[in-house]
Order: sequence, then C-alpha cells, then structure tokens
Amino acid sequence: MSKVLLQTKSLSKSYKMGATRLKVLNEIDIAVKYGEFVTIVGASGSGKSTLLHLLGALDKPDSGKVLFQEEDLSKLSSSALNRYRNSKVGFVFQFYHLINELNVLENILMPAMAYCSAIQWLRVGGKYKKKAMELIEKLGLQDRAKHKPYQLSGGERQRVAIGRALINSPALLLADEPTGNLDWSRGQEILSIFSQLHQQGQTIVMVTHDQRVAQKADRSIVLSDGRITE
Ligand SMILES: Nc1ncnc2c1ncn2[C@@H]1O[C@H](COP(=O)(O)OP(=O)(O)OP(=O)(O)O)[C@@H](O)[C@H]1O
Ligand SMILES: [Mg+2]
Repeated sequence: MSKVLLQTKSLSKSYKMGATRLKVLNEIDIAVKYGEFVTIVGASGSGKSTLLHLLGALDKPDSGKVLFQEEDLSKLSSSALNRYRNSKVGFVFQFYHLINELNVLENILMPAMAYCSAIQWLRVGGKYKKKAMELIEKLGLQDRAKHKPYQLSGGERQRVAIGRALINSPALLLADEPTGNLDWSRGQEILSIFSQLHQQGQTIVMVTHDQRVAQKADRSIVLSDGRITE
C-alpha cells in the first residue's frame, strides 16, 4: 500500500450571504495517495472548486484541516504556505489564467522566477530555462515558445498552463475543469497529457464534468450536499 500524500480531516467551508450562511463543505474526509489520479465530480454548485481551492491553500477552511505530507497547512508560516502554493502543488484552471504580456516560455518560467532574486536567477535561470524548453517540447509547443497567449488556441493555452504548473516539479497537480472550455478533440489532447503524467507517477486531483476522465482516473470522489457520496 502506498503512502498518503494529501489528506483532509473534517474539512468544512461556508460562505456568508447577507444574514445567512451557505454551508458548502460539511466535514469532508478524503485521502490521496502518492501516484494516484483522483477526480472530484458532482453537480454544479456542489463545492468542487471550493474543495480544490482548500487543497491548494488558495482559500482557508472554517474548520477541519488539510494535511500535506503529514503537515497541517494551517500550521505553516506565510512564507512556507507561499512555497506550498508555488512549488509543492501545481494548479491548472479552466480559463488558463496566463499573463498576456508574457510569451509561452516566460509564462511557464513564472513560478520558477517568483522566488528568485535577480542575482539568484543569474545562477539558476539557465537550469529552469532548459527545463521549460523540455516541457515545451513535451507539450508539443516547440513552434510556439515566443507566442503570446492571445496568439494561441485554447488547447495550446491550456498546455502552457500545464507547463507552468509543472515547472517546479510539484508533488501534486490540481486541475479544475481543465477541459471545460475546449472542444472534444482539444479536450482529448489535454486528457492524454494528464494521463501520461499519471503514468509517469504524477499525483493528480482533477475536478471534472468530463465522462471520459473517469476511464483514465483511479477513482472518483462524488460531492453532493456538502458531503461525499461514493
Ligand atoms: N465567494 C463566494 N461567496 C459566496 N458563495 C460562494 C462563493 N464561492 C462559491 N460560492 C457558492 O458555493 C457553492 C459551491 O461553489 P463551487 O464553486 O465550489 O461549486 P462547483 O462544484 O465548483 O460548481 P461548478 O461545477 O459550477 O464549477 C455554490 O453554490 C456557489 O454559489
Ligand atoms: Mg467549479
């Protein structure tokens, strides 16, 4: 049995809406093992994105905790938490969220540059550029390295976003509807990339409506009414 990478304990989250509170997640317990490919499914509004954001420390729970490599995220210092968001996890969103002023290579390098001073970058920049070029090749973007996001198709943009998510070799890849904005065959290309990454040992948690993903993933977590129904 392989080890647990990520775990939640009694994780709850609600949103304040005027005078009332909307309870979105109600004492959620999940565990994801190293190398697993897990999907999160459920109706629109069931809390899938909310859960993914808590796993990636993009938001904080009301109660309960997220443990990553047995460490409680709520106990991390703010710099350790930034390191977690930047290099322990990689995030892929439905709408890419690339930086329009930067080209493909620069977008992919962003998370690597984020923690370097100019002096440090002189030392390690070459190594990261080499890695970024390898990712670009692997993602089939070799003829697009100098393109800006607006000069790319949706599928190409999503491949850039995957490259950006992988530049720091995160232990965990989180994806929120990565095929949600793409047509069938562009979606298929993106799914095969995730599937390939999984075969190479990457741990993945993906929110999706896409029926095809279920065949590629190890298992699904089904959310409804703030709880898991499996
Ligand atoms: N910042 C917020 N303030 C108030 N309510 C919110 C906020 N973010 C999300 N919600 C509500 O919480 C519920 C869960 O939202 P969430 O985005 O997690 O759903 P989802 O399962 O990802 O849905 P979809 O499949 O449509 O993306 C929804 O009812 C939503 O309206
Ligand atoms: Mg969502």
